[in-house]
Order: sequence, then structure tokens, then C-alpha cells
Amino acid sequence: MKEKILVLDFGGQYNQLIARRVRDHNVFAEIKPYTTPLEDIKSENYKGIIFTGGPNSVYDMSSPHYDSAILDLGIPVLGICYGCQLMCFMREGKVESALTSEYGKININIDKKNSRLFKDIPDSVVWMSHTDYISEAPVGFEVTAHSADCPCAAMENAEQKLYAVQFHPEVTHTEYGKKLLSNFIFEVCGCAGDWKMEGFIENTVNSLREKIGGKKVVLGLSGGVDSSVAAALLSKAVGNQLTCVFVDQGLMRKDEGDFVEKTFTSLFDMNFVRVNCGDEFIAKLKGATDPEDKRKIIGTEFYNVFWNKIREEADGGFFAQGTIYPDCIESGKGDADKIKTHHNKVKMPDDIKFDDVIEPLCDLFKDEVRRVGELLGIPKELVWRQPFPGPGLGVRIMGEITKEKIAILQDADAVLRDEIAKSGLERELSQYFVVLPDVHTVGVMGDHRTFDHLIAIRAVTTDDFMTADFARIPYDVLARISNRIVNECDHINRVVYDITSKPPGTIEWA
Ligand code: XMP
Repeated sequence: MKEKILVLDFGGQYNQLIARRVRDHNVFAEIKPYTTPLEDIKSENYKGIIFTGGPNSVYDMSSPHYDSAILDLGIPVLGICYGCQLMCFMREGKVESALTSEYGKININIDKKNSRLFKDIPDSVVWMSHTDYISEAPVGFEVTAHSADCPCAAMENAEQKLYAVQFHPEVTHTEYGKKLLSNFIFEVCGCAGDWKMEGFIENTVNSLREKIGGKKVVLGLSGGVDSSVAAALLSKAVGNQLTCVFVDQGLMRKDEGDFVEKTFTSLFDMNFVRVNCGDEFIAKLKGATDPEDKRKIIGTEFYNVFWNKIREEADGGFFAQGTIYPDCIESGKGDADKIKTHHNKVKMPDDIKFDDVIEPLCDLFKDEVRRVGELLGIPKELVWRQPFPGPGLGVRIMGEITKEKIAILQDADAVLRDEIAKSGLERELSQYFVVLPDVHTVGVMGDHRTFDHLIAIRAVTTDDFMTADFARIPYDVLARISNRIVNECDHINRVVYDITSKPPGTIEWA
């Protein structure tokens, strides 16, 4: 049985990060909301439990609490921040509110040098973010670390395998955070650390084979990372029992549709159904200039075409999706009974019937999906593909979308990508593309006056795409890109660089 650690979510902002940091040590971690019944937790044979942080105070009775019997299961528990105070509260220690918060990088002193949790960890810097603090550890607990302002920065009841830290070991600002989590996982919980992507592939392929049997599977393939990796996994499991439906609405990057088709038909065993509907999309988009109208038309048309094709292919069997873990996690932020609605989880029309839906990647984070993709031999262009919006180049063309404008944009975008690759900046930039603002300006080519399109380059760095900074691409790289675009691409005589951060600008222009 797979060993796993439970991350019990009390609404903290770092819950996914905690799970990812545990998985960095080759131990599977899953996130469950604090509303999960104790009986369910008992039945899962967890090797350890981590209480996350949370925005609340334990004395506010509306804040998330948990049955204190969880501490009596004999399963090691690590409380982090709010989770630390909660453990103290559950065992009747004292939590008080400080006059000032302790926030930022703080030095802690380790008081118990032979603590398993602090094995090989010296006095060092940690990341604190709290107002409430433990003024008296519960009976049976000893204080294992303190800071100048926090009398109990960590505490433990080693006999009962209960550990708690006021700081955040999961963030990189905590110097020995990685080591502390590793100590919890291996020294306290006794994990073996054998959850590796190679094993994941083997187990998933076996269970897919078992589940699918001799039936068919249909997968919607967008060419994005998630659906591509799901396709490769399913192909490895059931070969040509798999049919991938790829809708090319003519709004992909230059030659991208052909690349996706070639990759999957030449490298993987499957039925590949490509629906080319670029002309129909252009016809539907005729006259539309408002960004939201265009998005709606593209979205509606896409799903019409997609579901019609799926309906044709549906013949009992299974429908597969490239849903990944962050799309499925129930959060502990008070909406625990609601699974996040997300564009990766799409609602199928009622008249289309499959035996079941298969989501082979629903346990993995994005970086793990990429690792699986690499191991399955998917080309790196696909595995490391930057995010690409569902409406494709449609959100990068201002004004009416025409075939000519798409071609202009695709050409300039291809030059940009080529130069970024040559300059070695690919992995440093989170997303980069060109935009056609539908603006004409005057220029000069040889002896001729020109009046042609302006192209804008957009390149950003970001961790989460919620906020972003414009990328500081060196001027000489920008100069090469600009030169090549005006020389090699028809109908462009000027190139500008978008230096707006998000907010106030969004990453896409429409
Ligand atoms: P914005 O423009 O909102 O973009 O700053 C944030 C990120 O989301 C991507 N994006 C989309 N992705 N469907 C998608 O799947 C969409 O309709 C869509 N619109 C924007 C955008 O490329 C960026 O990575």
C-alpha cells in the first residue's frame, strides 16, 4: 500500500506548498479539508498528519477546529502556525494574542538539541507570520525552540509523536525548512520515500488497464501539457483502444496543430481524430470586435464542435480528462463541500453517455505531470509548453479576427519564440507572445513609405499568473527580435514592448 501523509487544511495559504514539499521527498501527500470525518482519516492508514496554517484565532469559535481524538490515533502529527496553536488548544495549553504580530524572517534558538524534528538543524532563520502565540505549552509537551518575541516557536510531545512549529517550514525563507520536513517524514513518521514518478507510471498504467479492460476511451486533447500527458499515459495503458479528439480552431500558434498531430500519431499508439474548423470559426467571428463577445463565440463554438465529435466517438466505454490535482482539491476555506469550478473540469452534455470518467493525473501537481511527460517521451516543446489560453490567438488580436491577421500574428510569434530559445531565456520567462493591436503606423522600407501593422511583444515573469511583472529582456535580444520581425514578417513595420505589470494590466490583452 502506498505510504502517504495527510495535509489537513485549515484554510492556510500554503496548503498546496506543504503537500508539494512533502512530495519532494518522494512521499505522497494529499490535502483534505478540516471537515473530513475522523473515521475517514482513520481508514486511510496515513503515516503522518500535518495541520496547516489558517487565517484564524483558535479562540474564535467560528474558526476551524478538529476532534482532538485525532491526536490519540498514534499517528505522528506536525502542526504548522495555526495548526501549532490548534494542537496547543486541543491539549489545553495556553494561546494568547500578542500586542504586535511577529512577521518575516526571524531567528530561532533550538532548545532541545536532540529533538528528532530538529535533527541536524542549528539556530537559524525561519519565516513567521502570526499574532496569537503559545504562552504555555500543554502538559506533557516541552518547548523545543524560541525566538526573541515568541517563547514557544516549537513544541513537542515526543512520546506521543506530536510536534508543532509556530513558523512555516514549507516556505524557502525558512533556512532549514526542507530539512525539518524531511526529519518529520523520515525520523518521526518512518516513511520509506519510495513514491517516484517511474512507480507512478507503472501503477497508473496497471490500474488503467484493469479499469478499462477491453473497452474504448475517448480523450479531448488540446495539445496543452495536461491533456498531452494524459494521452501518453492512456496510450501506454491501452494503445489504440484510445481515441484522442483534437479540435484545431485555427487559432493556435504557427504549425502547432500539425506538430501536435505528428507527435501523437508518430510516437504513440492511438486513434487520432483532428477536427479542422478554422474557417467555420472565422465565419462565426465575422464582425465581432468586443473582446468578451469574441471569447464567448470562440468558447461556444469550440464546445459545439468538440461535443459533436465526442458524441460521434462515444460508444460506451470511458471519457478521459487531463484534470490535475489543483483542479480537484477541496479547500479548507469554509467552502469545503464545493469542488472548485475550473476550466479543466468541463460539463458534458447530458445526452452523451459514458460508463465513467477517467482522470489519470488527478493526484499530480503540474511539475509532477511534466516529469511524467518527460519519462513517457513526450517532446520537451510540449512538456514545457507555456500556458496558452483556451481561446488561443483570438485573445491576442484586437478588433475583428481575420485569417490574414492570424497569419501575421503567427509569423511574428514564431520569430519571437525562436529568438527567445536562441537567447536561452525560455525557462526564465513564464509566458511570452506577440499581440496584434490592430493599429497601423507609418514607416519607411528602403525608399518607400509604409502604413502597416504594429506588433506588441508581451513577456512576463510570475509564480502564479495572478500577479506578474514584465520581463526584463535584454535590449540586444529585443533588438534582434524587432529586426527580424520587421524584415521577415509581411505587413509589420513597427514593434513595441509592453512594459505593464499585472495589475494593473492583465497578461493577455483581451
Ligand atoms: P490574464 O490575461 O487574466 O491571464 O492575466 C492569466 C493567465 O491565464 C491565461 N488565460 C487563459 N487560460 N483560458 C485559459 O485556459 C482563457 O480563457 C484564458 N485567458 C487567459 C493567460 O494566458 C495567462 O497565463
